Amino acid sequence: MFSNLLIQRLTAAKTVVVLTGAGVSAESGVPTFRGEKGLWKHYRPEELANFDAFIRNPKLVWEWYNFRKNLIYKVNPNPGHFALVEMEKIFENFYLITQNVDNLHQKAGSQKIYELHGNIMRNRCVDCNKYYNDDQLIFSEKDQVPHCECGGLIRPDVVWFGESLPAYELEMSFKIARICDAFFSVGTSAVVQPAASLPLEAIQAGAYVVEINSEPTVITNYVHESIIGKSGEVLPKLVKEIQHSSNKSI
Ligand code: OAD
Repeated sequence: MFSNLLIQRLTAAKTVVVLTGAGVSAESGVPTFRGEKGLWKHYRPEELANFDAFIRNPKLVWEWYNFRKNLIYKVNPNPGHFALVEMEKIFENFYLITQNVDNLHQKAGSQKIYELHGNIMRNRCVDCNKYYNDDQLIFSEKDQVPHCECGGLIRPDVVWFGESLPAYELEMSFKIARICDAFFSVGTSAVVQPAASLPLEAIQAGAYVVEINSEPTVITNYVHESIIGKSGEVLPKLVKEIQHSSNKSI
């Protein structure tokens, strides 16, 4: 399943970066965005995941986020998430960049995570930017949306279409993509920018770039190695293989 070259590269690697997308959480029961069973097949992003839509109809947007929050609260990390926790222990410098907002990497135990698209468990006021956890939200009887103590509307702290990504996370992600020895793109369709540029940036900078996905994507032809399979199955095997081939595991 893994080439000798990949295992050699990983055995020698000091800095390893993994970019994850919705596919990593699919085996936990969180729907992906694209594809046959993807969320965007049934819901319209422009009505639910942009700021204007939120201001126009905050109740509708909150219904959609409460539906997703409730789903996410019920699920657990899968073997793919746990394998990434192991990888963090193996390599000298290991960075996880995620487009996922579902908090499952944190729940699994990953420590160093750059969340590019925010976190669905966090919320913030659109006026004063005060942060709220889910258990602090009070949905008003009048309009059925939560309001800040300043009176402003509270929104989920996720990145919507047309919005900028968090500056620090974005800057760090590009920085580490340019200096890593190996880069993995896992469970992402690699079509949403700027995250989709990270594997290509890593290739240009000389890293060994590997894609793990249940099907080919737009970047498959550009990466050094493409592994077709479920991340919950491939990643644990990869960890075993690295541990077997080196004494880097603790
Ligand atoms: P997508 O739904 O676009 O892609 C999910 C990818 O995971 C697809 O390429 C699938 O083939 C793959 N996949 C599905 N199950 C898998 C499994 N078990 N193992 C490995 N791969 C699997 O999700 P993202 O690429 O994460 O942004 O989407 C990027 C962004 O688009 C999201 O963060 C979200 C969305 O609009 C915002 O909301 C800002």
